[in-house]
Amino acid sequence: SSGFKVAVLGAAGGIGQPLSLLLKTSPLVSTLHLFDVVNTPGVTADLSHINSSAVVRGFVGNDQLPAALDGVDLVVIPAGVPRKPGMTRDDLFNINAGIVQKLCEGIAKHCPRAVVNIISNPVNSTVPIAAEVFKRAGTWDPRKVLGVTALDVVRANTFVAEVIGVNPEIVDVPVVGGHAGVTILPLLSQVTPSFSFSKEETEKLTVRIQDAGTEVVQAKAGTGSATLSMAYAAAKFAEQCLRGLSGETGIVECAYVSSDVTELPFFATKVRLGRSGVEEIHPLGPLNEFERSALSKAIGELKGSIDKGLNFVRK
Ligand code: APR
Repeated sequence: SSGFKVAVLGAAGGIGQPLSLLLKTSPLVSTLHLFDVVNTPGVTADLSHINSSAVVRGFVGNDQLPAALDGVDLVVIPAGVPRKPGMTRDDLFNINAGIVQKLCEGIAKHCPRAVVNIISNPVNSTVPIAAEVFKRAGTWDPRKVLGVTALDVVRANTFVAEVIGVNPEIVDVPVVGGHAGVTILPLLSQVTPSFSFSKEETEKLTVRIQDAGTEVVQAKAGTGSATLSMAYAAAKFAEQCLRGLSGETGIVECAYVSSDVTELPFFATKVRLGRSGVEEIHPLGPLNEFERSALSKAIGELKGSIDKGLNFVRK
């Protein structure tokens, strides 16, 4: 094929717009469907003037979701609501969980074979929600649902490069676990190029990677969270999924997926991407003492988030 059909759900948002821009310029995308509940016409008109080959079509409002999903190979979901004053974390959870549930019900109906990249937070819970929706619909394929943790890897590569003093483009840090706080576990003992971090460097880097989202929230002074770096990471990750779908071999990325690497049903590790999505899940590899202890913390926290997601759909 000469490119894939990709849908972005939540395309008019802070992440959705730059993500759609990057996908519009991707040679792997032949058709780009932009869906949102508001403002899609403007974003679509704007992006459609760019002379890259991808054809852009806009869809606005839930009535147009079926058309937005028709024939799509890859769905990327950055839809959600930001936290507003007076809103609790639980309020936010319930709204975003409901949005992901509804969108996945649409996917199950209109493009059940598509690969799905989930960005909407909390990813630790929204991926289990998506899985549960697909199970109920009878379309569950664990190879097709991926929680996007690529920003954790991007950040880890940048911060590690600063410490070891190399170009960040040559650094590769495996980041496993989940996509929030202590569930984010960078495996600094497995960094490429290999480097022996002191205990102090390991602790400082780990905490910085785990709290990196807060650096952006604080710098944006209450007006939002990471959008541009998230869009960059998600676009690169989506392109890797498309390369896999096209039959390119040897593509390995970290992602939060259905997994039996730990006792948890979902976990982020390196995975090999191919024609059917996730084709192989890599083992964790040898962990040092610091990582083993961080892993047990991550698993404890992640278990609660997974149960919260599953209970949301089951209730
Ligand atoms: N279907 C499609 N789009 C929706 C829906 C829905 N049911 N509900 C909301 N949206 C859209 C909004 O209209 C908005 O354009 O999702 C977009 C979200 O954009 P922002 O509010 O700017 O939020 P953003 O910063 O992009 O974050 C989106 O990603 O990283 C996560 O935590 C973040 O869950 C949040 C999501």
